[in-house]
Amino acid sequence: MTIKISIGSGKGGTGKTMILANLATLLAKSGKSVCLVDLDVGGADSHILFGLFKPKKTLTDFLTRKESSLNEICHTFYSYNGLKFIPGTGETLQTANMTFQEKQRLLRALDTIETDILLLDVGAGTSYHALDFFMYSDIQICVTLPDPTSIMDLYNFLQLATIRKMLGSFLSQSEVATTLRNSNFQSLNAVFELAEQTREGARREAQLALRFFHPLLIVNRDSEHGLVNKKKLKQMVSKYLGIDIPELGEIPDDKQVQHALKAFLPISELYPESHAAIALQRVATKLGKIADLFAGQRIKN
Ligand SMILES: Nc1ncnc2c1ncn2[C@@H]1O[C@H](COP(=O)(O)OP(=O)(O)OP(=O)(O)O)[C@@H](O)[C@H]1O
Ligand SMILES: [Mg+2]
Repeated sequence: MTIKISIGSGKGGTGKTMILANLATLLAKSGKSVCLVDLDVGGADSHILFGLFKPKKTLTDFLTRKESSLNEICHTFYSYNGLKFIPGTGETLQTANMTFQEKQRLLRALDTIETDILLLDVGAGTSYHALDFFMYSDIQICVTLPDPTSIMDLYNFLQLATIRKMLGSFLSQSEVATTLRNSNFQSLNAVFELAEQTREGARREAQLALRFFHPLLIVNRDSEHGLVNKKKLKQMVSKYLGIDIPELGEIPDDKQVQHALKAFLPISELYPESHAAIALQRVATKLGKIADLFAGQRIKN
């Protein structure tokens, strides 16, 4: 049974790729089968972190139908406990403007990958691609830096992800779906209100769709001078979006991260005793347990 985990953030450069590459190697080391997919359309760079400068095949080959299956473009890192890796695509006109059908084909193909953990690096921002890839997973991780702008960007990202989730929940119910799809929303409350106006009871249904949406929060590049006010962020998200964001962990700002980057190795491999690597190990252990719990729940249901 595969547990899908995605990582996203409002602002670019928050450390998503660094974090996910390390979590991938650490989870693989813990004995799970892991596949990391670089879904950062346009900004794909995970391969570089592994020293794979020119992957022979990438997602572009799949999206342009040169390859019919993701297996053909999947790379195995034998030095990282058999970690599987699907390199991302450089932005071509076709991939940047991926159609709904192309995106569905990609998501269907991702569904067929046999692995314990499927990790998706979604790329920054609030494009429909980024939001849809983020929401496609069972477990979402959101990353922010400690500064207020990054936190506001994360709040906006979560708001839009929540709205997109909401709209998805009405896709099969034509009347409400059509009204919602033809509108632009600034806030979640506006979605609830319009849904309710279109059909009585729709507000409740929309709220129910959010029941299982609890993105896990990572604060990266934390320092003593960090300005992050996690309590405030959590209160805002809970009050205005009606969702909880449990904490997955904090990763300190650490110079060794850059050194590892320059050596084209995950920091957990190169400097396992560094502050950042120790924090990443803590996050990986916690995430592994959450994934196990999730898998257990799914068997029960
Ligand atoms: N904890 C940290 N300490 C020091 N430097 C860090 C830390 N985390 C990330 N960085 C540095 O920040 C930069 C951005 O990291 P990364 O590319 O992983 O971010 P990203 O969120 O994936 O960016 P993008 O949104 O462009 O995909 C890199 O140079 C990375 O080495
Ligand atoms: Mg990245």
